[in-house]
Amino acid sequence: MKENYTVCNCKQVKYVDIANALDTHKNFDDVLDAFKDVQKVTNCTTGCGGCYQSVLDIISEIMMNK
Ligand code: FES
Repeated sequence: MKENYTVCNCKQVKYVDIANALDTHKNFDDVLDAFKDVQKVTNCTTGCGGCYQSVLDIISEIMMNK
C-alpha cells in the first residue's frame, strides 16, 4: 500500500509519515516551506539525500489533493 511505502531509506520515513507531518502544517502555499517542516519533523533527506525529489513529489501530490 502506498501509505506504507518507505520514501527515505536512510531515516526510515514512510509516505504516511510525510502525510502526517504535513497535517500539522496548515500553510500549504509553498512546497519548499512545507518541505522544510516535513524535514524537521521526520529527518527525511538528511542522510544520503537521494530521496529529495521523491519527498518533494509526494509533498506536491498531497498538497494538490487537499
Ligand atoms: S534515502 Fe532519504 S536521505 Fe537517504
